[in-house]
Amino acid sequence: MTRHLITSAIPYINGIKHLGNLVGSQLPADLYARYQRARGHEVMFLCATDEHGTPAELAAAKAGKPVAEYCAEMHAVQADIAQRFRLSFDHFGRSSSPQNHTLTQHFAGRLAEAGLIREVSEKQVYSHADARFLPDRYIEGTCPNCGYDKARGDQCENCTKQLDPTDLIDPRSAISGSTDLEVRETKHLYLRQSAMRDQLDAWIDTKSDWPVLTTSIAKKWLHDGDGLQDRGITRDLDWGIPVKKGDDAWTGMEGKVFYVWFDAPIEYIACAGEWAEANGKTDADWERWWRTDKGAEDVTYTQFMGKDNVPFHTLSFPATILGSGEPWKLVDYIKSFNYLNYDGGQFSTSQGRGVFMDQALDILPADYWRWWLLSNCPESSDAEFTWENFQQGVNKDLADVLGNFVSRITKFCRSKFGEAVPEGGAWGAREDALIDDLQARVTQYAAHMDAMEVRKSAQELRAIWVAGNEYLQAAAPWSTFKEDPDAAAAQVRLGLNLIGLYAKLAAPFVPDAAQTLKDAMGLDSLNWPEDVRAALSSMPAGHSFTVPDVLFAKISDEDRDTWAVRFSGIRS
Ligand code: 2FM
Ligand code: ZN
Repeated sequence: MTRHLITSAIPYINGIKHLGNLVGSQLPADLYARYQRARGHEVMFLCATDEHGTPAELAAAKAGKPVAEYCAEMHAVQADIAQRFRLSFDHFGRSSSPQNHTLTQHFAGRLAEAGLIREVSEKQVYSHADARFLPDRYIEGTCPNCGYDKARGDQCENCTKQLDPTDLIDPRSAISGSTDLEVRETKHLYLRQSAMRDQLDAWIDTKSDWPVLTTSIAKKWLHDGDGLQDRGITRDLDWGIPVKKGDDAWTGMEGKVFYVWFDAPIEYIACAGEWAEANGKTDADWERWWRTDKGAEDVTYTQFMGKDNVPFHTLSFPATILGSGEPWKLVDYIKSFNYLNYDGGQFSTSQGRGVFMDQALDILPADYWRWWLLSNCPESSDAEFTWENFQQGVNKDLADVLGNFVSRITKFCRSKFGEAVPEGGAWGAREDALIDDLQARVTQYAAHMDAMEVRKSAQELRAIWVAGNEYLQAAAPWSTFKEDPDAAAAQVRLGLNLIGLYAKLAAPFVPDAAQTLKDAMGLDSLNWPEDVRAALSSMPAGHSFTVPDVLFAKISDEDRDTWAVRFSGIRS
């Protein structure tokens, strides 16, 4: 038994996530967590909401709620949707937790002691009407380059020119529209990542097994241009973790908070503390996952995330951990994903484009989405969601292959032998060949799952379902039965046991269907079927079962077209 710490990138609090977000981190992380648990390993699977930063503040303002209240509500909404998607987190925490406040301030204090933080004086735009400093993108004005009147302080969307807020003509606050702005001097803290470049570079060099997508992004940031830059880790906001050195005040930093990207990854650690608190555990219980001096030396830590998150996870967060000089667990493997596009464009939260997690569950159960998203996940390149692709994947793989197999064999058995595994006959060469084939495939499937090759895993699983269908087609117990009922009984016995095998293998992808099959077939557990022959004998003659309801309904052309129209617009 090995121990797996698994984290998914923590979703921003400001709204319900779309399917592109889901497939880029939480869903593949769940697949891996479920698989490792099924293999009998000890798993700690953590995720949380990312609650700080300007977007959280602005979303709360838009909702007309105090930000703490907004975050508490949205956390509950996201937790509920995660549960309905069967994301099997051991804990779904909050980056605004007391645990994260304490740990973030602790790390900042350690980094300061190590000389890895410097103070920088900057000029920033202050809005009197809003009584706050404005981040660059919350200042709007006319572009000096093209005259576009809604250019943002960091960039003109119209001509793409990179801008400074002071370049804008007639600048105004994007929050209130006020033009009563003033450039003020303010002090900020920078994490001296540049001082850690060689250490980080050497560490990345030890990761030859990481996906190229992950290491190439890290290397680019380490070496392009002037190399790794120091990063500002404080902001002039109200909402966030107050800047302190451990428990001590930080002179000159009063009223400032840490930058959301400084505290968000620290929440991976804090979340384990929240898990301990929520489950009546001790500090030692969570520290054995995170402290290499307290039991975490044999933990394998895997992170899942979209490619835009890679720099923070390969460089900034490791810089925080290494710079602390304390024995925290560093990540062992980073699995990153490209983007899923929506019907010829991008999924977009800000533009409300695509299908969002709650909407998806309104039209179909979680398994349909889980299967399609995972089997088409943007692993080696970007991928595309279209309603045609989705319909095809669901109908062919789930309804025609897995669902049809289950329905045919259980109904046939019920009609000829009753609702118990029939006795009589014996398996011969055809059955042996199938079992050998399946044994090889199950081994290959496990190898892909171990390697987090999500698409290849899905393909192999599908091939395993297809093999059962082909066997059934060739053996044709419905014909055999007329000549030799005993031989047909042996074939049906194998078919029914195949359903049990499929439930176990498919559980990480389609947990609800697996549970339905487990219940219908009266299985004790969904433990991993290491030895296929043994697994195919686990339901002996006389073992009773029931015929499950339709496992997967087909998506009709009419539904497909209705949904395509319904989701072609913009979510308000
Ligand atoms: O990109 C995002 O959705 C971020 N909220 C991910 C943060 S991951 C981590 F660092 F916590
Ligand atoms: Zn412009």
